[in-house]
Amino acid sequence: MNMAYAPVNFQQDPIDAALAQGLKDLWFPVCPSHFVKEQPVSLRRLGYKIVLWRDGQGQVRALEDHCPHRGAPLSLGVILGDRLACAYHGVEVRQDGVVTKVPGSPGCKLEGMKAARRFHAAEAADAIFLFNASDPHSESPPPLVLPEQLSSPEWSSFLCYTEWGCDYRYVIDNVMDPMHGAYLHRQSHSMAEGEISAEFQLRDTDQGFIFEKKGQKGINFDWTEWIDNGTHWMRLAIPYPKTGGPGGPFTIIGSYTPIAARASGVFHWRCRKVEGWERDTWRFLYKNRLEQRHWNVLEQDRVPMEAMEPDANKREHLYQHDMGIVRLRRHYRNLAAAQLEKAGQAT
Ligand code: FES
Ligand SMILES: [Fe+2]
Repeated sequence: MNMAYAPVNFQQDPIDAALAQGLKDLWFPVCPSHFVKEQPVSLRRLGYKIVLWRDGQGQVRALEDHCPHRGAPLSLGVILGDRLACAYHGVEVRQDGVVTKVPGSPGCKLEGMKAARRFHAAEAADAIFLFNASDPHSESPPPLVLPEQLSSPEWSSFLCYTEWGCDYRYVIDNVMDPMHGAYLHRQSHSMAEGEISAEFQLRDTDQGFIFEKKGQKGINFDWTEWIDNGTHWMRLAIPYPKTGGPGGPFTIIGSYTPIAARASGVFHWRCRKVEGWERDTWRFLYKNRLEQRHWNVLEQDRVPMEAMEPDANKREHLYQHDMGIVRLRRHYRNLAAAQLEKAGQAT
């Protein structure tokens, strides 16, 4: 049988099902910081419905958005500092998942129970990150580590957040595919130059790998790096014409988070290595001239990603410039298989 036309029931593949929800024990960006203000916010991410709020100090807290009593969304409740009081019967749940008060039946055994799934939260680079712990009551996650472009004072960045109607793995595949720059983005301000065919190579790094064109660098979208430092990031650089202002190539840091089967949170930080007056110039230029062009390029990506069928990645004929995708998919499957095996051993 021609495998390209074989019917595939990918719902039955447990590794695929695990990956669809996002790998465990990693940090994921879940929304821009400004999503969470005075009221609790409910978001679907990573296979959960999650309530996020700010405590008295402004620190972001997060729990599964499901009251341990009868399942009303905690996001409909009231913020009491590091606790939420459910709107339905007033049960209070602390940020660590412990029920601290059952006002309708004081002293009942639900009081003091760790009954809600907690999510450790961190805020950095204008985004809120959650740790997708395999243990619902995990005490201390590893620290969130940002790439240099988001943590060093030598760099300046803008977070550009959007949501696409496709599996987050389509977004990852799209970024691990520099060849599309010369086609899909040929009509863009920064990707009209360079060869339209290329041979690619893989190069290992300390925290992942680089997938790059042989013999062309700094002309178009010529390489992508995949990084695992406790968060999965992707990094690439696009050369800028002189009219793009100071700072050299334009670096993009990406990270992609599952929302639902056909919905993903798409985080791109647009970064340049600029300080002092050059930083002011870049930030001004970005807001006034470059940002819209970047959105236009991203729109060129969004349209095919959303239009591709959910089983498109099961009916493919891959070739040399898809080597990066093959490598990364295999790595994800291995990570998911190891997590499933570990979870199986734990029960
Ligand atoms: S469902 Fe939340 S207090 Fe009853
Ligand atoms: Fe693209």
